[in-house]
Amino acid sequence: MTADPSALPVADPDDVSSNTSGNRPFKDVVATRMSRRAALRGGTAAAVGFMALGATQAAAAAEPGKAAAGRGPHHGGGHRPLLGFKPVPLHDVDQLTVPEGYEAQVLIPWGTPIRPGGPQWHKDASNTAAEQAQQLGMNHDGMHFFPLGHGRRGSQRGMLVLNHEYVDQALLFPDGPADMTPEKVEKALAAHGVSIVEVARKADGSWERVASRRARKVHGATPVTFSGPVPAHHPELQANNPPMGTLNNCSMGVTPWGTYLACEENWNSYFGTEDASWQPTEAQARYGLNTFGFGYRWHLASPRWDVAVNGKEANRFGWVVEIDPMNPRHTPVKRTALGRIKHEGCVTTECRGRVVGYMGDDQNGDYIYKFVGRRPWRSYRRGQSPLDDGTLYVARFDDDGKGCWLPLVFGKGPLTAAGGWKDQADVLLRTREAADALGATPMDRPEWLAVNPKNKDVYCTLTNGSGEGGAANPRTPNPYGHIIRWRENGGDNTATAFCWDIFQLAGDPAYDDAVDLTEETMFGSPDGLWFDADARLWIQTDISNSAQNLPQKGYDRLGNNAMLAADPRTGEIRRFLVGPRGCEITGVVTTPDQRTMFVNIQHPGEATVAWGAPTPENPRAVSNWPDYDPDGRPRSATVVIRRTDGGKIGA
Ligand code: FEO
Ligand code: CA
Ligand code: CA
Ligand code: CA
Repeated sequence: MTADPSALPVADPDDVSSNTSGNRPFKDVVATRMSRRAALRGGTAAAVGFMALGATQAAAAAEPGKAAAGRGPHHGGGHRPLLGFKPVPLHDVDQLTVPEGYEAQVLIPWGTPIRPGGPQWHKDASNTAAEQAQQLGMNHDGMHFFPLGHGRRGSQRGMLVLNHEYVDQALLFPDGPADMTPEKVEKALAAHGVSIVEVARKADGSWERVASRRARKVHGATPVTFSGPVPAHHPELQANNPPMGTLNNCSMGVTPWGTYLACEENWNSYFGTEDASWQPTEAQARYGLNTFGFGYRWHLASPRWDVAVNGKEANRFGWVVEIDPMNPRHTPVKRTALGRIKHEGCVTTECRGRVVGYMGDDQNGDYIYKFVGRRPWRSYRRGQSPLDDGTLYVARFDDDGKGCWLPLVFGKGPLTAAGGWKDQADVLLRTREAADALGATPMDRPEWLAVNPKNKDVYCTLTNGSGEGGAANPRTPNPYGHIIRWRENGGDNTATAFCWDIFQLAGDPAYDDAVDLTEETMFGSPDGLWFDADARLWIQTDISNSAQNLPQKGYDRLGNNAMLAADPRTGEIRRFLVGPRGCEITGVVTTPDQRTMFVNIQHPGEATVAWGAPTPENPRAVSNWPDYDPDGRPRSATVVIRRTDGGKIGA
């Protein structure tokens, strides 16, 4: 088939850095690169730092009785195996595959009414904006299952909360992205945000979306508010329209008190202008705001998105948004103390009673952050939030395998009036520039983070990048990505220093002999990352559609995007699932009993260089998953995965 070349992806916009700070690690970068190949094979220099914690310290943080043995990525250690399923082979066909003995059920594809009896999905994409606002959005992403009830009941019914990261306007509208109109902008906004649906297990073990007083959508036009050091009345948040909407919600987080954190990633992509005289300020340029964004062209039909007319609207995005999934009347709150970046997600853990949130800023050469609550979260009174009161840090990864957390606090270090900073609100509104000033380490696109429930080690996917951030980003360039991990000093997640190592370098060993994976285990561009309760590490891939299945990008042997499981104690990896064409795999959670897993298949059928581009005439050019309807179109969907014997997923 022939596709319009302009519809094919050239590269991911987030592969392009907007970090001009020149931050580099403190050691000699050249020396680091010369020893890179040696360092990548086997125990890395950095791993020495991670493993050299000392037996006492490591034992304090490790699982009881496991101490420091088998801590490295590829040590044995006599553990009971965590992974018990037969790996699935990779493939590049338009199908979802799961291991033998497992079954996958498509639960809530794009367009499903969030309540039974809601507006039905139209396969020609003719649903209106008002209908879309009552249906599941597009491009399912981060997700969590909030049980309704305790014990067994809590694994049979719950609120499934999931993000809709962005929209593919070629598939969202019957006539594709041409001719932007106000109604199209409204529909696109309604297809974004967060869906909150109630789901229940049926007698036969399958799942269904059920009637619920809690079900709702939080989308791009839902009223929102702000709290923390940048409150709603702050002058920098006064735009031409009321505060509303959350957009580009990618990964997520869950607080210890049971709320959901949606995180705003590539929010700059929605703004643009036709005003040729408009120039971004330094702060706007640091966030990648420009005249065309990612090509949505909403500004042609809605002045809200015209950055020359309504520039402060952009200041309302880039935050972590707290949503109460149990209270449909709760107004989502943007928690400004957690900084303004391209928030991939915010994984939380509890340490000494305090909430700790780890966050990646997903752009080539941007940083990893952590928020530490000031007091135990249970000590806050009603109406106060632990997320409004704490310290935001940014990470520096030194080449010797150690690292530290640098506080983004007005008045500290370079963040003073003399340094050009007004107050804490200014530091947070310009988080990236503040982190530049502190000398944070530029990373290869930090995506999801996950905290090992057994020992509190923190893992982060670095999906790919130019590899200019020293030993922590050891491949230059880094087309396949890697997974880095660290242990906070003393196993204390509130600490300000840590030791790190590379858990796994991703890629195809046929193209890069530093990659110690096999055809059975290889993967590229890790993105989603989640620990289940047994500390199985689930890894989801998002190979760019500009590289997927292409030999010239070294991606022809890696197949479609996949999900794998790893044992962090031994480094064992098995491929669990492979998706249909053009999709990525992102978002994973199980019920508390671990016998039902929910996984999101995002953007099947999107334009790929390898397969072409969907058009209004043929939206099925790349994929027709999951309906395979000859007149239909591909749809993102949540998939339910169960073992036919009812056993624990992954075991
Ligand atoms: Fe939305 Fe960084 O992936
Ligand atoms: Ca992602
Ligand atoms: Ca993606
Ligand atoms: Ca990604």
